[in-house]
Amino acid sequence: MSVAGQIPLARPAIGEREEELMLEVLRSGRLSLGPMLERFEREFAAWLGVEDAVAVSSGTAGLHLGVRGMGWGPGAEVITSPFSFIASANCLLYEGAEPVFCDVDPVTLNLDPDAVETAVGEATAGILPVDILGYPSDLPAFEEISGVNGLRLLEDACEALGGTDSGGVRLGARGIAAVFAFYANKQLTTGEGGMVVPPDADAAARLRSERNQGRAPDMAWVDHERIGFNYRLTDLQAALGVAQLERAEELLAARSAAASAYTRRLGQSGATPAGDGDPEGLVLPCKDRGSERRSWFVYAVRLPRAADRDAVVAELDQRGVQAKAYMPCIHLTPPYRERFGYEPGMLPVAEDASARLLALPFFPGIGEGEIERVCEALEEALQGNWT
Ligand SMILES: Cc1ncc(COP(=O)(O)O)c(C=O)c1O
Repeated sequence: MSVAGQIPLARPAIGEREEELMLEVLRSGRLSLGPMLERFEREFAAWLGVEDAVAVSSGTAGLHLGVRGMGWGPGAEVITSPFSFIASANCLLYEGAEPVFCDVDPVTLNLDPDAVETAVGEATAGILPVDILGYPSDLPAFEEISGVNGLRLLEDACEALGGTDSGGVRLGARGIAAVFAFYANKQLTTGEGGMVVPPDADAAARLRSERNQGRAPDMAWVDHERIGFNYRLTDLQAALGVAQLERAEELLAARSAAASAYTRRLGQSGATPAGDGDPEGLVLPCKDRGSERRSWFVYAVRLPRAADRDAVVAELDQRGVQAKAYMPCIHLTPPYRERFGYEPGMLPVAEDASARLLALPFFPGIGEGEIERVCEALEEALQGNWT
């Protein structure tokens, strides 16, 4: 929670257009499964450059339905990243499939294709790459591994709306199933919400049925042709989505400008992007490689290895700056350790990033003055919390 005068970690950009479209829905009387939902899906698909998109109540709901669509269930192993938000692995457990964690690339922090290739085994049914912190996964490499081994691919693009992969394709538009999320800190927000890009029209129909208690489009409210869920996005949420989509490019550009300002400012005091300088010092997010384009979700730095991160967070808080340790490795959370026997040290690159990353205040419209305050506070906090 942010207090008055504190620079918050994230802040949604909500304006008059969001209010106007929300009011339009309220006055229309169609609060669910109405025209605004269809409009959001249609406009989102057009913006991304895909045939269709299916809105759901959250990114997690989208991932769950994505996993069902892949047919991943008991006995299926799916290779995925340990350095992610926990929902990208939990969605496999919901269906009884087993996540198999592989280590990540030390620069991008995304699933390492070499590690994935080595991990493919008899029971491997698919790969679930995550575009972590908005940086595109190496989707062409995963496509190749999947093709050779007869695997299926589901992309968790929840943090990466607007990014582009190494083949120059917008994330979510490669023709494989992909999921986006619209929580309040995301590039585009509906408060809570998500979107699944289906691989084909059959998958789209199934997703629309499963998000709505297993109903077919022409069925009455109490008829069901399969098991489904209530994963519907409301029309009020869709109204927010439509308004945000209208200025998506502007919102993405504002994030990008804020990231450049951080990189410039911290670079002046000697910090370097991942892969470019001292990996033990203050490490900034990596630069884009080749045709890859990151969509800026958070600005997270790796603290010098010798720094005490908790003390830095506490000191920043005292100086009116909200910052957050980012993120626990999934394989070391109690449910995964207990069930699958993971131990510290098994996935060292992910564990190192997880121990050192700190997310700084980051949102469209964060001012240069605020960025200066954050960077000064960080530098001072690091001087005092450094062994
Ligand atoms: C990588 C990743 N996957 C999945 C999710 C789940 O999205 P939601 O919170 O909308 O359920 C998130 C959300 O933060 C995420 O960052």
